[in-house]
Amino acid sequence: MSADPSVPSLAVAQKRVTELHQQLHHHAWRYYALDDPEIPDAEYDRLFAELQAIEQAYPALLTDDSPSQRVGAAPLSAFESVAHAVPMLSLNNAFADEDIIAFDKRVADGLELTAGAAINYFAEPKLDGLAVSLRYEQGQLVQAATRGDGQTGENITANVKTIASVPLRLRGSGWPDVLEVRGEVYMPLREFDAFNKQAAAAGEKTLVNPRNGAAGSLRQLDSRITAARPLAMYCYSVGESSDGAIAASHSESLARLQQWGLRVCPLGKAVSGADGLLAYYQRLGQQRASLDYDIDGVVYKVDDFLQQRELGFVARAPRWAIAHKFPAQEELTELVDVEFQVGRTGALTPVARLKPVFVGGVTVSNATLHNMDEVTRKDIHIGDTVVVRRAGDVIPEVARSLPDRRPANAQPVAMPSACPVCGSHVERVEGEAVARCTGGLVCAAQRKEAIKHFASRKALDVDGLGDKLVEQLVDDGLIESPADLFTLSLEQVSQLERMAVKSGQNLIDALEKAKQTSLPRFLFALGIREVGEATAAALANHYGELSAVMAADERSLQQVPDVGPVVARHIAEFFAEPRNQAVVNALLSQGLAWPPIEKRAPDEQPLLGKTYVITGTLSSMSRSDAKAALQALGAKVSGSVSKKTDGLVAGEAAGSKLTKAESLGVPVLDEAWLLAQTS
Ligand code: IVH
Repeated sequence: MSADPSVPSLAVAQKRVTELHQQLHHHAWRYYALDDPEIPDAEYDRLFAELQAIEQAYPALLTDDSPSQRVGAAPLSAFESVAHAVPMLSLNNAFADEDIIAFDKRVADGLELTAGAAINYFAEPKLDGLAVSLRYEQGQLVQAATRGDGQTGENITANVKTIASVPLRLRGSGWPDVLEVRGEVYMPLREFDAFNKQAAAAGEKTLVNPRNGAAGSLRQLDSRITAARPLAMYCYSVGESSDGAIAASHSESLARLQQWGLRVCPLGKAVSGADGLLAYYQRLGQQRASLDYDIDGVVYKVDDFLQQRELGFVARAPRWAIAHKFPAQEELTELVDVEFQVGRTGALTPVARLKPVFVGGVTVSNATLHNMDEVTRKDIHIGDTVVVRRAGDVIPEVARSLPDRRPANAQPVAMPSACPVCGSHVERVEGEAVARCTGGLVCAAQRKEAIKHFASRKALDVDGLGDKLVEQLVDDGLIESPADLFTLSLEQVSQLERMAVKSGQNLIDALEKAKQTSLPRFLFALGIREVGEATAAALANHYGELSAVMAADERSLQQVPDVGPVVARHIAEFFAEPRNQAVVNALLSQGLAWPPIEKRAPDEQPLLGKTYVITGTLSSMSRSDAKAALQALGAKVSGSVSKKTDGLVAGEAAGSKLTKAESLGVPVLDEAWLLAQTS
């Protein structure tokens, strides 16, 4: 990273160095000792780079206790200390292509190569986990240690032995008597997600991210806890070896490690010259989002061990390797406000309005907060400094807040009681994370979906009124509610895109025809939450009249077969909403009508407890009408045939369901049977 061009005065630099020491020590302690970092890595890297830049400009300010002189943190006292025979060093970071071109040039200069000679490198993912050193003696895993401060780590042998991909014995032959293998322990993403889902469901603490998940798991004093965590390891280098180098190059040594049963990341590749490095970086960047583990960059290593030795080390890092970091996936910014978006089903989603921040390669100013449970769990207030995360093409999200930085005027996030789009009241069902607008038909956000549902085949079945047309009608401001469909004129509809006078007339005719419906279809068409065809039919049968359904209270509704307290509340709330009442009344005054329902008492439900399946084409009615008719007689209608099916009603061209019914010995019934039941 390049230094700030405006070099501060010595006095200012001195003050800043003190601040940076204090901050970097604090954050290193949170990261290494607590496995609970407060700030994203990118922020830490920036503070670190700032300190290095000042120390370079003012070498007098570089002290032994500077965080730039240490790698990691002191080992935790609870574990036994392990002195690394060969220190576990660190890598210098690079962010821009120019930094890589400069690295390649430094390597060429260091090797005194003739101009133009391309250097052979090995490029591999920079795995975002925890560095671990494995010690094998006579092929037997005898010790595993963390990096610690690079010189001394912690003995975590018992924990590492629980990782399935770490061999307890080396395979094959030819390994040195003493072999130290280094690599990264990580938590696969799929397993990380599954672990967190389970922990959240059980009300337990979730892991902040996969890297902390891996680090925290390895630092358990009880290795039974580690054993329950999904960890894996990739090996990428050799520390002590009693036979000296195990190969002539890095790539060959990886191949040998693999032969001995150690796991090596398959994405490493031999490349040459700066062009080769940058091309690899591009390619891996594209693959990053589809990998099952987090990587935060690429590591380039001079492949030849003799060349590595010639180049040597500076301070804490080798001259022969560099880490080329990807744009950070997590950044800090300010949460300016929280607004609520209304989705197609009326669900209210809190959305964070952010001070724009560059993260994951794009500028982000909005991010999802998912739902109120998440807001509470993440302790998010308006005005907070928050961590924004954007991984791959995933929608940006607010990962967490930094309560320590909360300003005095920060505000808690409150769910509005009225829908921000239509003003209808918002309900939050106990035990559900989602809050919903009860506006249904009248809420603009839900309108299109509501009208599509209203016109759909199992509802009013308006021929020719497809999803695209509904969207066009709403977008052009011609309709706002299903009732408006019936006020459309031929002139209005024939002017729509892809419509002419003839198709327009067809639509008007279809709407006119759809006015003659049935009460079950009408109730279903209203799109009341959780009121499907069967419930609509049961309501129609129970109450007989629409006005009675509308007037029913929750207690009464629960008397209807199949209606429990939740559905009863949805129905009662729907009809209590004055705007929904207005839509229903408008529909009735447009002439929607249905034949009277012959109410049947339970003892007139001869098919109660029976289950039927309907297949093929019926000549006198549609399958959904047949279904409603059977349901009105108390039957259940299922979509698939099983041994428990009481009968299969088969129309013309019945296919696999008929074959299945015959093979299971399920009675096959015809349309005449159906008509006899329902007449
Ligand atoms: S080689 C002397 N290779 O990055 C160089 N390190 O900042 C030793 N890391 O502590 C490291 N993936 O935790 C190397 N493919 C890779 C790596 C890798 C991740 C980590 C490792 C190390 C840190 C260096």
